[in-house]
Amino acid sequence: MLCLGIESSCDETALALVQDGRLLDSVLATQVDMHALFGGVVPELASREHYRFIGPLFDSLMERNTCTIQDIDLVAVARGPGLLGSLLVGVAFAKALALASGARIVGVNHLHAHLLAAGLEQEMPFPSIGLLVSGGHTHLYAMHDPARIELLGRTLDDAAGEAFDKVGKVLHLPYPAGKWMDMLARKGRADAKLFPRPYTDNDTLDFSFSGLKTSVIQYLDKHPELLSMVPTLDTLEETDQALCDVCASFNLAVVDTLRIKTEKALRAHPHIGHLVVAGGVASNSLLRESLSSFMHERGGSIILPSPALCTDNAAMIAHAGEALAALGYTHDLCFEAIPRGRTLPDDMRHCQGHCA
Ligand code: KG4
Ligand code: ZN
Repeated sequence: MLCLGIESSCDETALALVQDGRLLDSVLATQVDMHALFGGVVPELASREHYRFIGPLFDSLMERNTCTIQDIDLVAVARGPGLLGSLLVGVAFAKALALASGARIVGVNHLHAHLLAAGLEQEMPFPSIGLLVSGGHTHLYAMHDPARIELLGRTLDDAAGEAFDKVGKVLHLPYPAGKWMDMLARKGRADAKLFPRPYTDNDTLDFSFSGLKTSVIQYLDKHPELLSMVPTLDTLEETDQALCDVCASFNLAVVDTLRIKTEKALRAHPHIGHLVVAGGVASNSLLRESLSSFMHERGGSIILPSPALCTDNAAMIAHAGEALAALGYTHDLCFEAIPRGRTLPDDMRHCQGHCA
């Protein structure tokens, strides 16, 4: 099966071709530099950029792989959650392609696609606990199979990546700041007592990161000398030790919080022995180390996608679409794009046998 994946939920326009679980090729236009000027994604600009790039990217992907639309068996498109104007560009493009070519179509949950992305690199074990940590989401799931992914807990306010980005903004680091915070934290010595592990003293699997972000910002307010040490991208290597130490303490607080809640989820589901970690923050080096050694001690396995598959990409959309189609799930052309904040409807068609 040749599947075209389309991703346009936020600030990357991406298309990929996946065939029978193997990534053939992908193209991507990122808008990160443009939105960095504003310190965050500007929705209207994002949708205009998707609209500008999606056609030429599709043409170049087809040309590079000597394909035509008639070769595509399945179009998989991120249908939400995300920025509505951005999603609509990808969904309308996907529907037009499916209508013109007769290919089947499936609207993919962008968050589920993150969780399934590692399946392009290794066999995914089911059932698993899924931890999705990105700029917009911090969610825990029970993953029963690619079509049955059950939400167990979510952030009540800021997402983990958002906390990295907001603290990074105070430090005048470029947006998105997570990878720079990670880099500075690696050079620092963490003080485990400096910042709280928020919202961990309860039995829920929900998260709350806004208090942690506030406590770091208050600490920086009390130590204005630290802000005079803020590096530029060219001088990151020479960043003052005291500032690296603060970054390391904050990084440790985020990672500990994620680990504590993940452990609770695993304890609540004793029949599940696998952990899948996904989303942009899954590139964080301390998070990878901490969760790997924790799962090793537990005797369970951990699935971590390579960093290129952690951030938004179309290969994961194509892969999730293929996995759904293989189970018999597709959409008709009436499915809608769903913006962030609304629950994605369970509106896939299911047919057994011949259509998979
Ligand atoms: O999944 P993603 O590419 O986009 C969505 O939010 O959907 O995640 C982007 C987020 C940003 O908040 C970014 O700062 C964070 O992932 N991030 C990191 C690292 N790399 C990216 N956070 C911590 N450590 C990293 N190494
Ligand atoms: Zn994402």
